Amino acid sequence: MLIVTKIVNLETERAKIFSQIKVGFVPTMGALHLGHESLIKQAVTENDYVIVSIFVNPLQFAMDEDLDKYPRQLEKDKEICEKLGVNLLFIPSEIEMNTLSQEMTLIIPPVSMMSVLCGKYRKGHFQGVATIVTKFFNLVKPNMAYFGQKDAQQVAIIKKIVNDLNMAVKIKSCDIIREESGLALSSRNQYLTLEEKQEATLLFKSLMLAKKSFLKGENNPKNLIKIIESQFKNHPILTLQYIEIVDPETLQTLTKITNSALMAIAAYCGNTRLIDNLILTVKKPIIAIDGPAGAGKSTVSRRLAHELGFLYLDTGAMYRAITWLVMENQINITDEKAIAKLLELAKIELLPNSDLKIPVTVKVNDIEVTQAIRTTAVTANVSKISAQKAVREKLVKLQQEYGIQGRIVAEGRDIGTNVFPHAQLKIFLTASPEARAKRRLIDLENQGESNLNLKQLIADIQERDYIDSTREIAPLKKADNAVEILTDNLTMEEVINKIKSYL
Ligand code: PAJ
Repeated sequence: MLIVTKIVNLETERAKIFSQIKVGFVPTMGALHLGHESLIKQAVTENDYVIVSIFVNPLQFAMDEDLDKYPRQLEKDKEICEKLGVNLLFIPSEIEMNTLSQEMTLIIPPVSMMSVLCGKYRKGHFQGVATIVTKFFNLVKPNMAYFGQKDAQQVAIIKKIVNDLNMAVKIKSCDIIREESGLALSSRNQYLTLEEKQEATLLFKSLMLAKKSFLKGENNPKNLIKIIESQFKNHPILTLQYIEIVDPETLQTLTKITNSALMAIAAYCGNTRLIDNLILTVKKPIIAIDGPAGAGKSTVSRRLAHELGFLYLDTGAMYRAITWLVMENQINITDEKAIAKLLELAKIELLPNSDLKIPVTVKVNDIEVTQAIRTTAVTANVSKISAQKAVREKLVKLQQEYGIQGRIVAEGRDIGTNVFPHAQLKIFLTASPEARAKRRLIDLENQGESNLNLKQLIADIQERDYIDSTREIAPLKKADNAVEILTDNLTMEEVINKIKSYL
């Protein structure tokens, strides 16, 4: 490992590196711990040449901050970098970096990003960071630079600068490394007494408590902040500075969490200022339910979607909608070319409906067809239409578009294998032919049919299973990572609760 203290030497070394060599850069202020190490390790894995800098940057410390007593352990840091496979360690002095100059050009990030979170309490801090990091980028010319999510505001600001000033570097943000107690690693943890260190775990614990509530559905930042604040009562060693919930990119305050949010906290533990944060992401899961005919897929999917407040992606209704459109346009249902042409401009929409009996409202080219697609004429033609390649392609694409917005329960024969191979939860709902036949018998009897033969129904179901699993287009197949639920002895409630338990 080369150790360089002068800019001129850094420039000489940098000039020797060919343009096709990928250079990774990790700027630090030293006193390296496992947090820094994780950044360096990632840089070593992802690049051919890694440069680490150690510079306690005076530009980012206010007069009353801990610049003079900031921990310094250069020999140990050198050993760590050497051990991790760093190629060049740059340790410039303040004179070398020219940070003592009164007339220094400063990089000023957007005020909106500096006037929140830590920026509110550390005036000048982020322009100090922005200036030194820009200076380092100009000297090191890295392809990738690594920053910790621990300093979430710092990463967001640097990403913004890189984007706004068209800098040729890619910013990687790395996970927060914590002690077993949950306390985020920080060079400043060295200032803490044993008792303070114990108390300091409350930052992470309270964030996690709020996160739990968020995962249960609380998306109002004010309520989440209250949860955290309440934890800090009766902890005289800790003084909260701020708790804010902001957009992770723009850092603007959120009034409701609809996508993702940065929940950040700063508190004094004794005299030491600590920060921590968590990202909250609204889950947008896709639940894909496959399985043989008669296993209860559609009833379960509809109920489940209703209970979760998700959209029931009624794929059957989509095929019916196309069938309706073909018939409406008086196109022969076997004329695949004409149907393909018709589909090019067709717009099919599924809209959630709070009525369980009509789980989705269906629109074709802005005309509501929810009832019209349920006629016997449509039923008679739908299987012929759904076997056509152009129809399947159009609908699979449309179903996948619905998948992007997430929060859907989708059901169909090839939903988990073909349409949503990356669905968060795949269920293969099945029941023995006997159980399915018995359910069918009851249904048919309820519809007024008599002279039914259970054995014949079982045989019919077995034959249909065979045809479905051997057909060429979209055969019935359990996805490798699907959870199989045998519904023979389960009530609908039990099936739904079982599925929910996997979420
Ligand atoms: P410093 O505090 O030394 O941190 C260097 C890098 O390590 C930063 O990107 C920081 O976010 C990351 N880091 C610190 N603790 C971490 C943890 N527990 N888990 C993961 N990453 C962690 O941040 C600075 O220095 C300076 O502001 C700097 C960018 C070097 C500019 O002077």
